Amino acid sequence: MSYENILVSTEGRVGIVQLNRPAARNALNGALMAELVAALAAFDSDAAIGCMLITGSDKAFAAGADIKQMATATVVEMMDSEMLGAWDALTRLHKPLLAAVSGWCLGGGCELAMACDMIIASESAIFGQPEINLGVIPGAGGTQRLTRAVGKAIAMDMILSDRRLSAGEAMRFGLISRVAPVETYLALALEVAAVIAAKPPVAVRTAKEAVNAAYESTLAEGMRLERRLFTLLFATDDQKEGMAAFAEKRAATWQGR
Ligand code: CAA
Repeated sequence: MSYENILVSTEGRVGIVQLNRPAARNALNGALMAELVAALAAFDSDAAIGCMLITGSDKAFAAGADIKQMATATVVEMMDSEMLGAWDALTRLHKPLLAAVSGWCLGGGCELAMACDMIIASESAIFGQPEINLGVIPGAGGTQRLTRAVGKAIAMDMILSDRRLSAGEAMRFGLISRVAPVETYLALALEVAAVIAAKPPVAVRTAKEAVNAAYESTLAEGMRLERRLFTLLFATDDQKEGMAAFAEKRAATWQGR
């Protein structure tokens, strides 16, 4: 399949999507989001891929939803919007999805990074939710995922006053998991993705499901789900292999079943 707004590649077992609208600072229009979802869905169903990664350029991960595309939209057009509809599809991906972020990570760009399972950033990354300046509010998870990630105080500050976070602040507040210089953040993100892609695939997708459930359940419900998923993994060959390999002091060979 050919794409106009993204570049798609693989490195070993890592599937990579690079947002590629440099003239618009990778603003997320409907076409880009549809392509992104299609590329990630293809990786998600490809057994040769163990982990996926979204990145932008060193200057901009993404400057948000495409303001020019939305500017004159009616409420019904927004309800039917391809751009907003695509977000639900991202949450249905089974394999881990990493964001490698540098430069501007604003509005829908920040929301896209937060829809990923882990964010690795360059020291030049700037995170923000500036929608208030446009007479709207975040529309793709900014008020929800950001608040869960950094807490009410910082989320309110960012969403109401357009406070921007540096990579260091984002790290301190728990929005991102690693920071590296701009020259090496992408290599670091690819390295982390490759490590995850080499882990037993069924356990990996199960772990992702269990962690994500923490956002949507009470502690007791989450604990019950975790217990069920943990015990279910004893039905996999990879659990037998992993534990046998440990006892035999050798590297495990994963079958993905
Ligand atoms: N939508 C559409 N076009 C955008 C864009 C966006 N979100 N962000 C940047 N662009 C375009 C600019 O219009 C400009 O195009 P032209 O060359 O045709 O004029 C081009 O990208 C370069 O932008 P700048 O000249 O502004 O570049 P800069 O480096 O000086 O500034 C920036 C970069 C700080 C990101 C600035 O462009 C900016 O503030 N962008 C808007 C950020 C924003 O408000 N995002 C929220 C969007 S709403 C949203 O995301 C809703 C949601 O929750 C789903």
